[in-house]
Amino acid sequence: MIFETHAHYDDKQFDKDREALLSSMPENGIDTIVNVGASLSSTAAGIALAQQYAYVYAAAGVHPNETGELNEENFCWLREQCKHPKVVAVGEIGLDYYWDKPEHDIQKKWFVRQLELAREINKPVIIHSREAAKDTYDIMKANNAAEIGGVVHCYSYSTELALEFVKMGFYIGIGGVVTFQNAKKMVEVVASVPLEHLLLETDCPYLAPVPNRGKRNSSLNLPYIAQKIAEIKGVLYNEVVEITAQNARKMYRLDNTQYKKE
Ligand code: NI
Repeated sequence: MIFETHAHYDDKQFDKDREALLSSMPENGIDTIVNVGASLSSTAAGIALAQQYAYVYAAAGVHPNETGELNEENFCWLREQCKHPKVVAVGEIGLDYYWDKPEHDIQKKWFVRQLELAREINKPVIIHSREAAKDTYDIMKANNAAEIGGVVHCYSYSTELALEFVKMGFYIGIGGVVTFQNAKKMVEVVASVPLEHLLLETDCPYLAPVPNRGKRNSSLNLPYIAQKIAEIKGVLYNEVVEITAQNARKMYRLDNTQYKKE
C-alpha cells in the first residue's frame, strides 16, 4: 500500500468532493496520508481531517511565505497543536525566495523557531525550500537538524546537495515533477539517492504527474510517480511502494502496530 507523505486536502480545490475522494483512498491502494499545514488555518483544517479519518495524519506548521502571520501569541497556539496525537511532524517550514514575501529575515526567524519547536516536541520536520538552497542548508546545519530529522519535500536542487541532506539523515520527497519531460535533474537525483532515503508525495492539489499534468492532483496519481522511480532505479514497482512506505513510517514514527491500533 502507498504512503502519501505530503498532501493539502484542506485546499479549496477539494471542497466539492473531499469526502468522496478521501473515503476512496484505501480501496485505491493509498493506506496512509499526511496532510501538511501551510498556515495557521490550514494546520487547524488538517487536524480536523486527521480526526475524521483513521488513515489521515497531520503536520502542523507555517510555510515560509505565510510566516508574516506569525507572532508570539499564535506561535503558542501552534505549539499546542503540535502536541495533538495525530500530528506527526512540524511542517511545512523553510525558506522560499522565489516569492520575496515576507522579507528573508522574517522567513529565517520563523524557520529557526519552528525547527526549535520540532526539537522540543520530538517530531520530524517537513522542509519547503525554493531558490534558497544555501541559506536552508546553513540554517539546518547551524541548528543541528540532523538530530531532528525529516524530509526535504518537493526536492528541486542538485544531486550533490541531495546527498548532503541524506548525510544529515534526511529523506528526499519525490513528486510529480520527476515525470515531466524536462526533469533531467530530478531523474539524476532519484538515480543517485538510495531508495531507503526517498519518499513518495504529491503536494496535491498542485504538481500532478504526467499523464495528468496541469489537472488537479490527488494521491490517486502516486502510482505514476512510483512507476517512474522504479524505471529510473531499475527495480520493481512494488519494491518502490514498499520501501518508500517503510521510510515514511520510520520518519513519521508510525510503526505498523500503531497504525493497526487505529
Ligand atoms: Ni506542500
